[in-house]
Amino acid sequence: MKKKIIMLACACALTFIACQDKKENTSSKENTSSAVSSDEIGIRKTSVENENNVVLPDANFTSLQPGESNLIERSFENAPPLISHSIEDMLPITRENNICLSCHDKAIAADVGATAMPMTHYFDFQAGKATGDEVSNERFNCTQCHVPQSDAKPLVGNTFKPEFKSEEAKKRSNLIDALNEGVK
Ligand code: HEC
Ligand code: HEC
Repeated sequence: MKKKIIMLACACALTFIACQDKKENTSSKENTSSAVSSDEIGIRKTSVENENNVVLPDANFTSLQPGESNLIERSFENAPPLISHSIEDMLPITRENNICLSCHDKAIAADVGATAMPMTHYFDFQAGKATGDEVSNERFNCTQCHVPQSDAKPLVGNTFKPEFKSEEAKKRSNLIDALNEGVK
C-alpha cells in the first residue's frame, strides 16, 4: 500500500513538471515572436554574440604625436580627458610595459610637457589610502577610461551640453577635492 502511494505521488509530480515545462515552452515561443533579434540590438547591426563580425565605421584617428597635439576640452567637469595624441605603438598596456606612465607619471610629466596624472590615480579607493609615488592598480589600465578621438560621424544625435563651474575645470580635474561634494 505504502509503495503504491509513493508511486502515485511520483506520477503526479512528473505530470506536474511536464505541464510546467510545456507552459514555459509556449510562453518562450510567444516571447520570441515579438522579441528583438540579437542582430537588431544596439547600433552596430550585427549579432551581439559575435564580436568578430563588427564592422567599424570608416574613421581616422589623429596622427599627431605627443608634444605636437592640442588638448581637447573636457567632455564634462572631471570627465577623464580624451587622449589628444596618437597612441599607435603604445598598446597593449601590459603588466610589464605601460608606456603611458613614462610621460604621465607625476614625477616626469612636467619635464615632457604632459599633464601629470591627478591625485585620484595615486589613491587606492578600496583600501582608502594613498599609494605614494606608485600609480594605483585601479588606474593602471589607462585606455579603460581614456580614449583618443576619431572623426567618425556620430551614429545618433546628442544634445548634451556640459556646464563647468569654472574656466579652469574645462582643462583640469579636481576630483580628489570634490569627491564628497554633496555627500557631507
Ligand atoms: C612620449 C610621451 C607621452 C606618452 C608615451 C604618452 N603621452 Fe599622453 N600626452 C603627452 C603630452 C606631451 C600631452 C600633451 C599634449 C601634447 O603635447 O601633444 C599628452 C596628453 C595626454 C592626454 C590629455 C590630457 C589633458 O589634460 O587633456 C591624455 C588623456 C593622455 N595624454 C593619455 C595618454 C595615454 C593613455 C597614454 C598611453 C596609451 C599616453 N598618454 C602616452 C605625452 C605622452
Ligand atoms: C578608472 C578610470 C581611469 C583610469 C584607469 C585612468 N584614468 Fe586618468 N582620469 C580618470 C578620470 C575620471 C579623470 C578626471 C578626474 C580625476 O581627477 O580623477 C582622469 C584624469 C586624468 C588626467 C588629467 C589630470 C588633470 O590634472 O586634469 C590625466 C593626465 C590622466 N588621467 C592620465 C591617466 C593615465 C596615464 C592613466 C594610466 C596610467 C590613467 N589616467 C588611468 C579616469 C581614469
